[in-house]
Amino acid sequence: MTITTTAPAGSALTTRDEYADAIGTAIRASAAYYGSGDSLLDDASFDLLVSLVQAYEERYPEHTDPASPTGKVAGGAVPAGEVAHTAAMLSLANAFDPQDLRDWEASVVRRLGAPVAGGYVVEPKLDGASLAARYEGGRLVRLVTRGNGTSGEDVSHAIGTIVGLPERLASDVSFEVRGEVLLATAQFERANEIRAAHGAGAFSNARNGAAGTLRAKGRPYTVEMTFWAFGAVELDGAVLPDTSHAQVMAFVAAAGVQTAAATPAGLTVVATVAEVQEQVDRIAALRARLPFGIDGVVVKLDRLAEQAAAGTGSRHPHWATAYKLAVLPLV
Ligand code: IVH
Repeated sequence: MTITTTAPAGSALTTRDEYADAIGTAIRASAAYYGSGDSLLDDASFDLLVSLVQAYEERYPEHTDPASPTGKVAGGAVPAGEVAHTAAMLSLANAFDPQDLRDWEASVVRRLGAPVAGGYVVEPKLDGASLAARYEGGRLVRLVTRGNGTSGEDVSHAIGTIVGLPERLASDVSFEVRGEVLLATAQFERANEIRAAHGAGAFSNARNGAAGTLRAKGRPYTVEMTFWAFGAVELDGAVLPDTSHAQVMAFVAAAGVQTAAATPAGLTVVATVAEVQEQVDRIAALRARLPFGIDGVVVKLDRLAEQAAAGTGSRHPHWATAYKLAVLPLV
């Protein structure tokens, strides 16, 4: 259940007390979101609150509280797990409207020192739990949650329960795919039926259900989940295409892993930001009819050389942004 509280005032934080209150609220909301799944704030209110905290910290860096959620993946609410990631699993910066998208493009052009030549990829922002899946010699050997972004929890016990993550690939390749594991609407309903039959409480929402199912060990029942890849990392040996994100995803799909390209929203490559906006609007219009939850649309530079040139900050890559969609009304 999402409890939508009054959105925090849209005006800037001006005093240290307001800043401290805002941090407290953000930490509690983040902990609830990643813990029980019962959000104290809807996504848009949370993002607004964090942006106000960030603006205050930019104005008064000397007042910055180390507990602030601004510099942390998942607002710092997720404990570190036991497996170090091959490469950090970062968050995405947000855009909320067409102007934010154009501002992001301008920042990319500034970083590249040239207009974007390789186009943009547009994918749904799948609303589940981030997962790294490692294939060695064509075999699925390890699943790791995002955790704190640097290390995550080994959830390899879930191998074999996730549609889209086969235990064997079509060839003996080695790579790590990154993507979102979620409960599609039908899986969520089935999960709650199975749980009821076992005397367990219902999952409050699909995202929370996916995160809980992924981490649960030794349950007397199995809940099926679905994985959609949105990235890949090379392991030993250069096997992945070095050209574009779309090519990497096509390679991973050909090997047998389900990718965001196979969702009804698809993966689309376009040349201009105006076309990106059209794709965002198209996916937003599809959203209510999708068989799983999305909370936005992810826009990435397609060409890997341009991604590298745009670079990555401490919290998120400069080459991508998440265009957040308004919170769906509760029915
Ligand atoms: S790309 C460097 N693409 O959103 C981060 N992320 O808020 C690259 N997510 O941690 C992530 N759908 O768990 C990417 N199509 C998509 C996504 C996606 C969902 C999640 C992912 C990430 C979070 C960031």
